[in-house]
Amino acid sequence: MNRAPVDGPQLELPDGFVLGTATAAAQIEGAVRAGGRSASIWDEFSAQPGRILDGSDTSVTADHYHRYREDVELMRRLGLDAYRFSLSWTRLQPSGTGPLNPEGVDFYERLIEELLAAGITPFVTLSHWDLPVEYEAGWLERDTAVRFGEFAGLVAERFADRVPAWITINEPATVTLNGYALGQHAPGQAMLFDALPTVHHHLLGHGLAVQALRGAGAKGEIGITNVYSPVVAATQQPEDQVMAALFDLVHNTVFCEPVLRGRYPQPPPQLSELPPELAGMLDVFDDAPDEDLAAIAEPLDFYGLNYYMPSVVAAGHGDGTTPDGVSEAMAQVPFELVDLPGCPRTGFGWPVAPEYFATALQQMQQRYGDVLPPVYITENGASYPDDVRDWRVHDVDRIDYIAGHLQAALDATGQDGQARGMDLRGFFIWSLLDNWEWAAGFTQRFGLVHVDFETGRRTPKDSYYWLQQELGRRRVR
Ligand code: BGC
Repeated sequence: MNRAPVDGPQLELPDGFVLGTATAAAQIEGAVRAGGRSASIWDEFSAQPGRILDGSDTSVTADHYHRYREDVELMRRLGLDAYRFSLSWTRLQPSGTGPLNPEGVDFYERLIEELLAAGITPFVTLSHWDLPVEYEAGWLERDTAVRFGEFAGLVAERFADRVPAWITINEPATVTLNGYALGQHAPGQAMLFDALPTVHHHLLGHGLAVQALRGAGAKGEIGITNVYSPVVAATQQPEDQVMAALFDLVHNTVFCEPVLRGRYPQPPPQLSELPPELAGMLDVFDDAPDEDLAAIAEPLDFYGLNYYMPSVVAAGHGDGTTPDGVSEAMAQVPFELVDLPGCPRTGFGWPVAPEYFATALQQMQQRYGDVLPPVYITENGASYPDDVRDWRVHDVDRIDYIAGHLQAALDATGQDGQARGMDLRGFFIWSLLDNWEWAAGFTQRFGLVHVDFETGRRTPKDSYYWLQQELGRRRVR
């Protein structure tokens, strides 16, 4: 599989730095009816007309369920240290109740064994957005957190001895905002600020899962994955500053602070300017019971941070346009996300701004440095409209994106960096494979490996070969 060298920046990775890729079950596995799996909320949501940009669904995606050996072999040849993937809850515990399904357990056992045999460390995410459909109210209900904790305990009993690293929940912020506030992701609820109880239930689910993993004797390190987007006010005008502070609170700090400090953040002073009905919505966090907060703040072995882009926030009502299409709910919130001028864009239209990655790490270090465990970047990457020509995919933009962001993170956490003091242990590229990109269906390709969604055929892109060169160089240094 080695070919002519690919041009690209040289990476200088510190000794012991973990380089991996990340995926999620619903985005790559397919085989939604195989091996006793039951329906997840994303199966149901994607079957509803108009929900997914290209009308596609979860049924086949990248067919990883059948091709996992080939995919692990691709990673082995690439020279990766680690692979982050998620478990499909409904494959392991159909309908979300009762004992684990032996066929589901068997699939993940085979995958984990294959990875370990290839010298690749599995980082296992317990929940990456796909709940059983039986949990109708989903994360709006406290009971979902309790059930998730039970699920974590059952999983740990089976896999505790073999999994070196666990991630409880992936990006609860995105689920709360896109799934319950704006209605663009499953379960498709557009409740605006009434979605806020899902914050606490996600975090409680995380805490109960940590307790269950440890209670079942899980030997691996345990963390959570939160997305972090540094927030910039569109102008110096007070109304934009207030809305930027609000967005920072509901997107960033309400998810970090309880986990790291065992309390919900105090709204910053600018928020005293909020209209009373909006300010009142934030009171929901005041009632969190102490025992919940104690569970949420269970000490972690690491903290997972996903970074994609900054958020530029302006007061006022936009037209509801989001990367996943137009959301009527988004047009009703009192702020809009506007463009960051003067930078290149990914296929999704997201700004390419590695300097804001440094800002994200700096803010995390300033806000939580005294309590922050070692950090892994658990996702970073970019979609581009890649074509296969003569068996090659010349994804130069992706190489630049990955190299630029990885370097920004290493520089920021280095001796003279703006986030110095942060113990950055590793970096997971999103993603190994082109996948099913949630509401955007197959319209966005994030992989180091191209997937033909008609045939399932994998074609490593130039970014794959570039990374292979860099990881090979590291080994012989
Ligand atoms: C999610 C991934 C998703 C990626 C790109 C992250 O928010 O965890 O599942 O594919 O962003 O949109």
